[in-house]
Amino acid sequence: MGKILLTGGCGFIGSHTAVELINEGYEIVIADDLSNSSRDTVDKIETITGKRPLFYEIDVADAAALTALFAEQPIDAVIHFAGFKAVGESVEKPLAYYRNNLDSTLTLLETMSRYGTKCFVFSSSATVYGDAEPPFSEELKTGGCTNPYGWTKYMIEQILKDAAHADPSLSVVLLRYFNPVGAHESGLIGEKPSGIPNNLMPYISQVAAGIRDHLNVFGNDYPTPDGTCIRDYIHVVDLAKGHVAALGYGLAHTGAEIFNLGTGRGSSVLEMIRAFETANHLTIPFEIAPRRAGDLPFSFAKTEKAEKLLGWKAQKSLTDMCRDAWTFEKSCH
Ligand code: WQD
Repeated sequence: MGKILLTGGCGFIGSHTAVELINEGYEIVIADDLSNSSRDTVDKIETITGKRPLFYEIDVADAAALTALFAEQPIDAVIHFAGFKAVGESVEKPLAYYRNNLDSTLTLLETMSRYGTKCFVFSSSATVYGDAEPPFSEELKTGGCTNPYGWTKYMIEQILKDAAHADPSLSVVLLRYFNPVGAHESGLIGEKPSGIPNNLMPYISQVAAGIRDHLNVFGNDYPTPDGTCIRDYIHVVDLAKGHVAALGYGLAHTGAEIFNLGTGRGSSVLEMIRAFETANHLTIPFEIAPRRAGDLPFSFAKTEKAEKLLGWKAQKSLTDMCRDAWTFEKSCH
C-alpha cells in the first residue's frame, strides 16, 4: 500500500483529516505552501496521533516541485484540500482564484497520470447547488453560484468528471461540504482565520474571547422561522471521518461519484448563538445588521447517499461543535 497525499494538509479540514487517516493506519504525505496555515500543525498532528506525517512545503501548482514529490513517494491517492476559499476576496480577485484553484487541480491530475496514481478525492462545496431548493441532493443540477470561489468548485467538479470519463481506470470522489465548524477535542488544531473572520463560528469564538465586541447578524428578515439564515453545520471531526470513508470508497471503485457531507439538520444564526452560549456558559453580544450579499436563506444536505454507499453519518451535536470551537479558541491566546 502506497501513501495518501493531502494537499493543504495543514489547513482546517486537511489537518483534521490527516489525524483521522493516521488513526486508521494510513501513511500520509502533506503538501502545503503554508500560505494560509502554519508549519507547527505538523507537530500538532504528531502530538495527537503519535506519528509524524511527511511534509513538503510546496505549492501544488508548481509542476516541478510536485513531480519531485511524486518521484520520491509512492502515492496511491490524492485528497485535494489546497485552495483559495474566501468568498469576498474571490469577488475582488477572480483571476487569482481561477488561476490558483484550477491550476493546482490540473497540475495534480497531470502529475498523477504520469505516475499512475488513480484515485482523487476533492473538496467541493454545497455552494455548487446555488439557489436550488433544499434539502440538496447530489442529483440536483448545479450552477448558479454567486461568486468566483463557488464557480471554481463547480468548474473543478466538471474537470474531474471529464477526466474520469476519459480514463475508466480513474476514481474521482467529489465531496460537497456543508458548513464545517468545531475543532479537534484536544484543542490543538482548529480554524484560525487570519484577520477578521468571514464565517460565523470563528466570529462567535472571537467575540467570546473578547477580540471583537459583538457579532453582526446579517439579516433577520429572511423567510425562515426566526428570520435568520439556516445552515447545515457539521463538526470538522465528523467531516474528517467522512474523508476516510470516501477514500476507502475511491480506492475500491472507479468512475466519478458525488457525496454530500452534512448532517441533514439546519440551524439558524440565532440558534447557533444560543447553542454556543449554552455549551460554554457565556454570553455573545450581537446586533442585527443588514443582509450580506449572496447569502441564501436555507442550505442543508440530503445525507442518505453517503450513509448508504460510504457507511458514514455525522455523529456530533451542536453542543460538541460549540464546545470544541471554544476550547480551540482559548488555546490560541
Ligand atoms: C453562515 C451564516 C451568514 C458571519 C461560506 C461559503 C461556503 C463555504 C463556507 C468555504 C450566514 C451568517 C456570518 C457573521 C452572520 N466556503 N453570519 N454574521 O456563507 O453559509 O458559507 O463558508 O470555504 O462556500 O459561502 O457560511 O459561516 O459565512 O455564514 O450573521 O459575522 O452566518 O449571513 O447566514 P456560509 P458563514
